[in-house]
Amino acid sequence: MAKDRGSFNSRFTAIMAMAGSAIGLGNIWRFPYMVGQNGGAAFILVYLFSAIFLCIPIFLAESIIGKRTHLSTFGAMEKLAPGTRWKWLGFLTVFTPLIILSYYSVVGGWSIEYFLKSLTLSFSDPAVSMEEHSAVFGGFISSPWRPLVLHTVFLLINAVVVIFGVRGGIERFTKLTTPVLFILIVLIMLYSVNLPGASAGIDYLIHPDFSKITGSALLSAMGQAFFSLSLGVGCILTYASYLKSDENLLATGIFTSMFDLLFAIIAGFAIMPAVFAAGIEPGAGPGLIFETLPYIFSTIGVDAPWLCNIVAILFFLTILFAALTSSISMLEVGVAYLVDQRKMSRAKATALLFAGCWILGVLCSLSFGPLRDLHVFGMTVFDACDHLTSDFLMTFGSLLFVFFVGWKMKRAEVRDEFTNCGTLRFNSRVFGVVYFFIRYVAPAAIIAIFLSNLLI
Ligand code: PHE
Repeated sequence: MAKDRGSFNSRFTAIMAMAGSAIGLGNIWRFPYMVGQNGGAAFILVYLFSAIFLCIPIFLAESIIGKRTHLSTFGAMEKLAPGTRWKWLGFLTVFTPLIILSYYSVVGGWSIEYFLKSLTLSFSDPAVSMEEHSAVFGGFISSPWRPLVLHTVFLLINAVVVIFGVRGGIERFTKLTTPVLFILIVLIMLYSVNLPGASAGIDYLIHPDFSKITGSALLSAMGQAFFSLSLGVGCILTYASYLKSDENLLATGIFTSMFDLLFAIIAGFAIMPAVFAAGIEPGAGPGLIFETLPYIFSTIGVDAPWLCNIVAILFFLTILFAALTSSISMLEVGVAYLVDQRKMSRAKATALLFAGCWILGVLCSLSFGPLRDLHVFGMTVFDACDHLTSDFLMTFGSLLFVFFVGWKMKRAEVRDEFTNCGTLRFNSRVFGVVYFFIRYVAPAAIIAIFLSNLLI
């Protein structure tokens, strides 16, 4: 079985594919606006804490299951805990990424729009004010048709890639685009922190105001960390099932998480100083980068219009690629389930899931315009899908994964997988600590943060 499914070529490609799933709109689009909505530096501190102490154990738990079984979530649960209720975790991980994909592809559509705008050199006019950039964005997302068409295009690209074999495509894609995006975001950060008035934004990111840490901010910071690393939904598990049996899980886990974390922090420093320099409200919400980046680009345009256009085109193109490498992994989890377990053809499985995501995505997209008054749990459909998945379903999925590895699997089994039967000396030495985190610390912290949301 393992042989038929194939495996990643090298540790580099494995890390690049996992980092490709992890690094996406979550880092560039979601992280800065979540920081803005939840009070800045204090949110970042909780995020850092979650990323290091919770995400790495969860990442390891998922990858231990994946590498152990060489199967996707549902099959892995059937193999490790046959005939038990753990199979429901398999179902959960099929549905959650699809709900995420529905609203993610709406933002993917916005990225296409901004990429097209950059091609028509729309950001090089320094005379356009920040308010005008915001008004253009507001007008675009609230119009009924254009965002819908672009949402459809984004989802269609996903479907095509997934139908025609993901592996070669994903690997080739990410190896190239991830480093480019990284270089660009560092350059934009350097530019942004030097804008006049940027220091207020830097202060906002480094001086924590602990009064801002409410229960819901804690939950959102943890949810953002899980979202950013694609945890609790079976993506990491599925990718880890393509790892070779002698791969070092600790190394892939630490590299991928650190890469992702660094990326988010740099994106925060690229966006927030410009937000303050331009006098935008940091809690402006999901549109934050689409209002700020055009402003940054047009200020570059004062001295060098050609440079501004090149940077804008490259930047929106790579955002689009980063979004695609993540969204493809969401679709792949569901498709893998239907193909492996339900014996459906790849094309049929993709078409079915495409239809489901498309319909929910239409509601999400329209919730910025004609359906803005349709509320679910007091939120628009878009916000409801976002919160339901990142604050609850991903958190719940992550909890179940650590619980499964810490309490259901045998310690010796976990140890073998983590240390490659004792052949990795460093991993053998740290196994006790890692296991303690998986078994006690991660579940306790997740439950505590979850409860604090209900109580504080
Ligand atoms: N981690 C991705 C991002 O940061 C989002 C994602 C969530 C991908 C869940 C897969 C599964 O954009």
